[in-house]
Amino acid sequence: MYRSHNCGELRISDINKEVTLAGWVQKSRDLGGMTFVDLRDRYGITQLAFNLEVNEELCLKARKLGREFVVQAKGKVIERSSKNKNIPTGEIEIEVTELTVLNAAKTPPFTIEDETDGGDELRMQYRYLDIRRNPVIEKLKLRNRVALETRKYLDTNNFMDVETPFLIKSTPEGARDFVVPSRMNEGQFYALPQSPQTFKQLLMVSGIDRYYQITKCFRDEDLRADRQPEFTQIDCEMSFVEQEDILNTFEGLIKHLFRTIKGIDFEGDFPRMTYAEAMEKYGSDKPDIRFGMEFTELSDIAKGKGFPVFDNAETVIAINAKGCSEYTRKQLDALTEFVKRPQIGATGLIYAKFNTDGTVKSSVDKFFTEEDLKQWGSKTAAEAGDLLLVLCGNTDKVRKQMNELRLHLGTELGLRKPDDFKPLWVLDFPLLEWDEESGRYHAMHHPFTSPKKEDIHLIATDPGKIRANAYDLAMNGVELGGGSIRIHDRELQAKMFELLGFTKEEAISQFGFLMNAFEYGAPPHGGLAFGLDRLVATMGGSDSIRDYIAFPKNNSGRDVMIDAPAPLAEAQLKELNINVLK
Ligand code: AMO
Repeated sequence: MYRSHNCGELRISDINKEVTLAGWVQKSRDLGGMTFVDLRDRYGITQLAFNLEVNEELCLKARKLGREFVVQAKGKVIERSSKNKNIPTGEIEIEVTELTVLNAAKTPPFTIEDETDGGDELRMQYRYLDIRRNPVIEKLKLRNRVALETRKYLDTNNFMDVETPFLIKSTPEGARDFVVPSRMNEGQFYALPQSPQTFKQLLMVSGIDRYYQITKCFRDEDLRADRQPEFTQIDCEMSFVEQEDILNTFEGLIKHLFRTIKGIDFEGDFPRMTYAEAMEKYGSDKPDIRFGMEFTELSDIAKGKGFPVFDNAETVIAINAKGCSEYTRKQLDALTEFVKRPQIGATGLIYAKFNTDGTVKSSVDKFFTEEDLKQWGSKTAAEAGDLLLVLCGNTDKVRKQMNELRLHLGTELGLRKPDDFKPLWVLDFPLLEWDEESGRYHAMHHPFTSPKKEDIHLIATDPGKIRANAYDLAMNGVELGGGSIRIHDRELQAKMFELLGFTKEEAISQFGFLMNAFEYGAPPHGGLAFGLDRLVATMGGSDSIRDYIAFPKNNSGRDVMIDAPAPLAEAQLKELNINVLK
């Protein structure tokens, strides 16, 4: 062993111990007769002290140490004269008697300290150096604990970890597949799994009963702060269960994680909301319920008053920004600019200020009397000091736009506190979603999701209205996980494929293995998958999952450290029988 202790564990109670430490030089300071070196490892920082008068040669050697040199230091633990209350080892230092340079280092491209001068791209290029920084390593430690506690909880509850393959068949499951050419099967391709969905269902047919896996999934989709092309799921499936059993089991998992890792006990059951209600009140299937500002429909009182913008709109929706009546012209203009951004696409924003002196002032005073506006106020529970913000248009679009505005305001007003955790089950998702582009229905969750029994009769008449036994767990505006009760009956599954526009032949060629399996005694089953990256980032109080992944991809799906993806050599392409179109 190169060391007797790590750099984070020595305390005042260790005074006079002879110790050996090893680690990286974070920085050094020369103060006349003394030289101090901060020695860092994964566990913390310990100060090494060198006295010029006591040992000149050693002190001069210490002065030559550069940043990030790997060194070993032997010496005695002594009490510091000027203590540093900010770090756990701040009361002691090591009076060094022996110093060995284990490896020199080039000057790093950015400072490896909590606050760094390195930009995102540079830190990603040298991610192995970035990971030396405390804020990064703390995130990876959190991830490790979440994975470990997940395994403990699931193991205690009889779940069995079973691995499923990465080289599978391309299926139209939602996102685009990443594909892998097969050398041994000329002209044929594997696909990387978007999730282990069909395999875990087959494991239920196999009698595994309770399955889980912490596994990579691959989706070739446009990237955002909470999306990576390869990400990790806590993937689970259970047999002989109904929706309620699944919700209880996985609510238990989330409670276990917050209790053991963050010391947070959620009181009572997680709140629940139907998809329809979530869309109506928040314009989102993953509402952030850390704050109110729910939508109020004003259509009935705002239309028909001669304001053409409202009169021509399908829906008029308001939110009440409490205490914001003093927003200035400039602030209101900024909000208008925000909703008019092409990603959001509103044509304008209307406001009504309920001033503290009891008057009401709006941007549509020409069309609405103070009486009219007070009616808006009573519908939205606006009081003196509040600001109403109103959008109108096509119902689905205006809900989406208002969702963006609500979240933006929530952030601006400091209502989205990162250490406030508000879980919410969203239930009763629609089974199908109409796709304008292809002119047909798509499965909202996936094609194996079972419709609600009481809605099955709508298959022939109004498929868009069928609700599914599907559920998501949202927290703080993030979809942490989702799942469903599955179809376990060959006939219903075949009907579902038909509804999704598959011909019989297509369904058999894509999913024949699953439908065949359903003929050999498939138990009723269902499951769910959490996004581990999102779960950990949310627990860490961040919107971005990238920081919680050791080696993430950038927004263009590139790993800038290893420089991937990259072209293949001619010979390799030839072996795979692949011609790259120029
Ligand atoms: P779903 O597609 O909803 O369900 O995925 C489950 C969870 O995985 C996370 N997730 C992602 N995280 C990071 N980057 C991505 N690109 C990404 N895509 C999804 C989300 C999401 O809630 N097989 C079903 C589960 C089931 O029915 O049991 C499935 O994959 O947190």
